[in-house]
Amino acid sequence: MTGSPLITLKDICFGYTSGQIIMEGLDFELRQGDKIAISGQNGAGKTTLFHIMLGLLKPAKGTITIFGKQHRQEVDFKETRKRIGLVFQDPDDQLFCPTVLEDVAFGPLNMGAEPEEAADKARRILDELDILHLSDRVPFRLSGGEKRVVSLATVLAMEPEVLLLDEPSTGLDQSTTEKLIRIIDAYPLNGLVIISHDQEFISRVAREKLVFKDKKLARMDI
Ligand SMILES: Nc1ncnc2c1ncn2[C@@H]1O[C@H](COP(=O)(O)OP(=O)(O)OP(=O)(O)O)[C@@H](O)[C@H]1O
Ligand SMILES: [Mg+2]
Repeated sequence: MTGSPLITLKDICFGYTSGQIIMEGLDFELRQGDKIAISGQNGAGKTTLFHIMLGLLKPAKGTITIFGKQHRQEVDFKETRKRIGLVFQDPDDQLFCPTVLEDVAFGPLNMGAEPEEAADKARRILDELDILHLSDRVPFRLSGGEKRVVSLATVLAMEPEVLLLDEPSTGLDQSTTEKLIRIIDAYPLNGLVIISHDQEFISRVAREKLVFKDKKLARMDI
């Protein structure tokens, strides 16, 4: 039995510039309990799709329905972005505070937590991810793998119901990848979408696989 729809995209068309077509007639559905992986060639449009789902880019055509409500403009997406966490492909797009602790506390603070409460929550998440020792470090001076795990911490600190992960295992060593898989498995999520080229990683974290091809998503056997 399948769960109720969380994110539904219908007949999406998109191009960054006029004449460019990255998506045409694209459909997508994430339902309660789904764990979906998306793969596809470099430049196919996978990252762009996540940005469309969260209203960071507006499609030329098509409908976006999230948590039962059609999303048309910025105001519709504002609350939704608190419930759907996106971990960006490039951690430098995610991290902007002077310290790791402040970056991870930023989300809870923004959602109305008191400063001490937000800092406690940030420390708890950093501890869960085994990176509490990075708390006082400057984010942009971290290693690539460290940045990626801190990016995940900033999103988990907001307790999202749905996680969108854009190539989360890129550049991670084996033990950090195992930790990431354990965390994804243990985290109480309603739905998960992972963009990845790493077939072994996909087979361990996702139950369904889609491929971005010919400007749309097609189902593949996992
Ligand atoms: N801001 C932009 N302006 C114009 N074109 C863009 C912009 N951002 C991305 N593109 C182009 O749109 C296409 C889709 O990009 P996107 O980043 O979604 O691909 P992707 O599938 O995520 O690729 P990768 O696997 O390399 O991450 C690419 O051809 C890219 O060059
Ligand atoms: Mg991408």
